[in-house]
Amino acid sequence: MILGRGLASGKVILFGEHAVVYGRPALAVPVTQVQAEAVVEVGAPGSGLTIVAADLGEQIVVRDAPADQPLAAAARLALAHLGLANPDWRLTVHSTIPVASGMGSGTAVSAAIVRALAAAKSKSVNQQTPALAPKRSAGASVSKSATRNTQYAVRNTRYELTAVELSALVYEVEKLHHGTPSGIDNTVIATGQPVYFVRGQPPQPFPIGRPFWLAIADTGIRSPTKITVGDVRLAWQQEQTRYETLFDRIGAVAEAARSAICAGETEALGPLMDANHALLQEIDVSCSELDALVAAARAAGALGAKLSGGGRGGNMIALVTEPTASTVADALRSAGAVRVIVTAVEQAAG
Ligand code: MEV
Repeated sequence: MILGRGLASGKVILFGEHAVVYGRPALAVPVTQVQAEAVVEVGAPGSGLTIVAADLGEQIVVRDAPADQPLAAAARLALAHLGLANPDWRLTVHSTIPVASGMGSGTAVSAAIVRALAAAKSKSVNQQTPALAPKRSAGASVSKSATRNTQYAVRNTRYELTAVELSALVYEVEKLHHGTPSGIDNTVIATGQPVYFVRGQPPQPFPIGRPFWLAIADTGIRSPTKITVGDVRLAWQQEQTRYETLFDRIGAVAEAARSAICAGETEALGPLMDANHALLQEIDVSCSELDALVAAARAAGALGAKLSGGGRGGNMIALVTEPTASTVADALRSAGAVRVIVTAVEQAAG
């Protein structure tokens, strides 16, 4: 029997990756075409929480897993937050987000796990204690009707996490994936909205003045963010003044891009993407495969293109229009992309 289900989308960084770790602004948007899903079912008595990582063919017994096992860490944090002591549940995780490719795979898996466990707690509480008044715990939200009818209220107790709570839990897991995450990935994935992000400040959703289109192309090269972020830190330590200047320039590009997006001046974004890619090359996080895809997209009519995420592999993004999207996508495949997603960036509903 299914107790709970949690979904979380992937993301791309539009502007400002790496510099965002050093306090400069960055922009990111969710990508709903790729998703992580976690499903909680009743497990064998005495099993405790077991995670089945369906895509990896792995089974993780949470009580025995090392502290830095990311899936178990997400589950432990969620259980503690929800006030659950290792229930006999089986949690199956599946994701269509390419791993280690700058699209937030690990972050989305963590978010889906937390959401699924919260949903499972709601269902199991409602099933097990139908005659009792709901016990409020941190993160619990009770529907309005709960205040009017206890029996009805118990059946509708929902343990929903706010986006801020979810983001904070996932950020803890992010620290295991790479030591100094800026917090942008967990923020965009938890809120599910385009976000303007400056480390240490509350995230600001930003309006999309006019929808625009991106082709997102995967080099097929897996490149863990932890490694590129670590390499940039080493380089920054050795050449602090030069890197601070480069980060300032990336931050200025991200600011200009925010203004252009808000004003609906989409055509201004192409040159800004090109400028951002050149700066990312200067901080040495591009690679020949990414550069080849960027060049192919531009040659096929994209208005601009850049790598997205940690770099040295993973994905790039190209600014396309509805008429040019398929030509650019074909050119990207011919230039070696293993997968191309075309997505519209538009105002989130609600
Ligand atoms: C990874 O999606 C973005 C980076 O800027 C790292 C971070 O912000 O934590 C490379």
